[in-house]
Amino acid sequence: MTGAPTDTPPGARGLGAALAALESARRATLALADADDAELTAQHSPLMSPLVWDLAHVGQQEEHWLLGVADPGRDPVFHPAVACLYDAFEHPRATRTLLPLLDPAASRRALAEVRGRVLDALERARPDDGHFPAGMVAQHEFQHGETMLATHNLRAGDPLLVPTPVPPGRLVPADAVLVPAGPFPLGADPAAEPWALDNELPQHEVHVPAFRIARVPVTNGEWSGFVAAGGYDDPRLWTAEGWAHRGEQGLRAPMAWEPDGAGWWTQRRFGAVRAVDPAEPVQHVDFHEAQAYARWAGARLPTEVEWEKACVWDPAAGRRRRWPWGSGPATPARANLGGTALGPARVGAYPAGASAYGVEQMIGDVWEWTSSVFAPWPGFSTMLYADYSAPFFDGRYRVLRGGAWSTAADAVRPSFRNWDLPVRRQIFTGLRLAWDA
Ligand SMILES: [Fe+2]
Repeated sequence: MTGAPTDTPPGARGLGAALAALESARRATLALADADDAELTAQHSPLMSPLVWDLAHVGQQEEHWLLGVADPGRDPVFHPAVACLYDAFEHPRATRTLLPLLDPAASRRALAEVRGRVLDALERARPDDGHFPAGMVAQHEFQHGETMLATHNLRAGDPLLVPTPVPPGRLVPADAVLVPAGPFPLGADPAAEPWALDNELPQHEVHVPAFRIARVPVTNGEWSGFVAAGGYDDPRLWTAEGWAHRGEQGLRAPMAWEPDGAGWWTQRRFGAVRAVDPAEPVQHVDFHEAQAYARWAGARLPTEVEWEKACVWDPAAGRRRRWPWGSGPATPARANLGGTALGPARVGAYPAGASAYGVEQMIGDVWEWTSSVFAPWPGFSTMLYADYSAPFFDGRYRVLRGGAWSTAADAVRPSFRNWDLPVRRQIFTGLRLAWDA
């Protein structure tokens, strides 16, 4: 453990923060489930659950972690025969419409009943501890909000969601910043981040060789150059595994890009077809595509350790910041978070969100693929939800960092580690380049 402090006072999250996060996550969930029953119960994509599954699952998990574990003797809202329908490990997404799930009205009633009991229990709770279980449950619900957004994005038919505006982009140099060699404390400091999840811990000092990292994420305009240059047809740019996957799936461009017939591209997004914006960060590319692009560009993906150092280390102060910009909250001027923009902002939109090294848009906009395989930090131990991370340390998953426009501020931190299979691209994924220095 390093002695380098962060700039966040201990106890930054207490009961009030837990209640606010639970409430905010629920508002988001209910907004994403504000549709007729046919929409909520349909299988919009074999990659995704029906929305009504996510809706009830967040309540079932809330009961399990905040009520069930504490008091296994009480009469549950989700009886065991129903609760097991919402076990993500038991039932693959493509089969969930075949289950006798609660209907939307019954799901909403169950959610409200669980929440009422949770609030009763929290009324008797100490106001001054970190309330990790409640923070964990709120983060879980926010994560399902992102999943529900991915489902909305894939469904056919007219738009159900309306985007909120984001700041305009600005011209930024298409350059990279140097992060000199040196140590920094990797991972979350639990005193400053009591809701850090098991895979972010324990914080430990690492030495990072010098590297350069791009100031902003790769844009659609840049990606179109890779397509036009034949990047999808050149096996030298792809790993053997990536090339095989590209062939099986017939990958020619990011998900839902279609030629517009006039030399450019359209992209279907949340039911609306629009011209691809060259100044927006590219999204909906998988890890193999990201790796091939990086090779074409004469670069590589950053490791997750490089990513985190570029995000939070303040070399002048000799300490981690809480966020890239400092200790202040994630406001709409600093990052595109919260799930209502329905897409990333243009590059250059968040000068106020730059890190100490001048790297922009690390938090929000698009999840960024890193080259790192998801693995535990030295000294890892499981949290209350013991199967959150550990079953995924099998070498098949790559780490994504920084959150996307779809992520809630309470569900991401510079130390936050997301992971997915290298073929996944229905989530809101993009990339940023890095180079050896
Ligand atoms: Fe879940």
